[in-house]
Amino acid sequence: MATPGFTARIPLALYVHIPWCARKCPYCDFNSHEACGPVPESVYVDALLADLEQDLPRVWERRIESVFIGGGTPSLFSAEALDRLLAGLRARLPLRPDLEITLEANPGAVERGRFAEFRAAGINRLSIGVQSFDDEHLRRLGRIHDRRAAVAAAEATHAAGLDNFNLDLMFGLPGQTVERALTDIAHAVALQPAHLSYYQLTVEPNTAFHQAPPSLPDDEMTDLIQQRAQAELGRRGYRQYEVSAYARDGWRCRHNLNYWEFGDYLGIGAGAHGKLTDPASGRIDRLWKLKHPRDYLASAGTPASIGADQPIRAADLPVEFLMNALRLVEGVPTALFPERTGLPLTALEPGLSRARERGLLIADPERLQPTEFGLRFLNDLLQLFMPE
Ligand SMILES: C[S@@+](CC[C@H](N)C(=O)[O-])C[C@H]1O[C@@H](n2cnc3c(N)ncnc32)[C@H](O)[C@@H]1O
Ligand code: SF4
Repeated sequence: MATPGFTARIPLALYVHIPWCARKCPYCDFNSHEACGPVPESVYVDALLADLEQDLPRVWERRIESVFIGGGTPSLFSAEALDRLLAGLRARLPLRPDLEITLEANPGAVERGRFAEFRAAGINRLSIGVQSFDDEHLRRLGRIHDRRAAVAAAEATHAAGLDNFNLDLMFGLPGQTVERALTDIAHAVALQPAHLSYYQLTVEPNTAFHQAPPSLPDDEMTDLIQQRAQAELGRRGYRQYEVSAYARDGWRCRHNLNYWEFGDYLGIGAGAHGKLTDPASGRIDRLWKLKHPRDYLASAGTPASIGADQPIRAADLPVEFLMNALRLVEGVPTALFPERTGLPLTALEPGLSRARERGLLIADPERLQPTEFGLRFLNDLLQLFMPE
């Protein structure tokens, strides 16, 4: 399956999971736990570094292209703890010199002056979970911050010299109208983020919203909100490049692009997922760590911390690759498929021909790119590539 130098061409990223939040939001199914008291940041950083050391033999001499510290709410950690984490990473891994290092922050969980300290520790990109600038929406979403705190967080980010920041917004919120959604967009754009993530609120199993569902706008209204928001963002210089991602020119998120281009990544921290290509065999493994922070802390750095470690079956690779690549508005060069999976292009048939015949993929043989219609009906498009 593999050719010599196979993994040399596959970029490698690092994801670090911090599993605590000040309060659990009723819509959230991420691996996040309400912190009862101060977060055990010092022992957790030790655990992360032990976890990394255990994974190191699998990525020997490969360089890290980006780091993303997500959660949960990583901004609950002090700059000292993050500084020690980043120093630990630098000591153990070759890092690309102009590395993108993102930290997720909640506007309700950052003290004044924190952002400058984060920057001094090496963080050069922030992703701020604003969700909305409408106080009533924020209350319904159970957020711990209001509009003023969200604006203050974005302003503090600029003031700290961190102009490369993302705002997370959600749409399809209880009681949302097109006007209210466009007001949110106007507030966001006025703060001049480099990047905007615009997620449709989904009601996930195992969340408080699932048990007591809020009344959400119907599909027609939600579609209209998305179309109008997308057009407005385009007019204001934020080009959509992925299903939920918009960026000003030159400010796409490198870390997320690596996922969508089916690159490799190490995942350290409670419940963190990794995807790694074995250089000798070309086998692609998915592995993840124990989810609960208590179990993770008790076992990090030992085999007991591995929740699962399994190869992706060759039959599943086409759909796994396309599930990521076809989220990109411009898709990917066709040549990326054999490069990242080790499989020939024929492995995409008969789905590829069918998707092109049905107008779900563009006809260009050099690209795997969804049409506007294909992007809108991505699940139907992916169905064509499901193994028998
Ligand atoms: C892991 S959170 C990171 C930010 C930080 N924890 C916060 O919420 O401020 C990533 C983002 O996913 C989005 N998200 C979480 N649950 C969602 C859901 N059920 N539907 C849509 N978007 C969701 C939110 O926009 C959130 O900011
Ligand atoms: S703050 Fe973010 S990660 Fe934490 S519960 Fe809320 S949405 Fe989830």
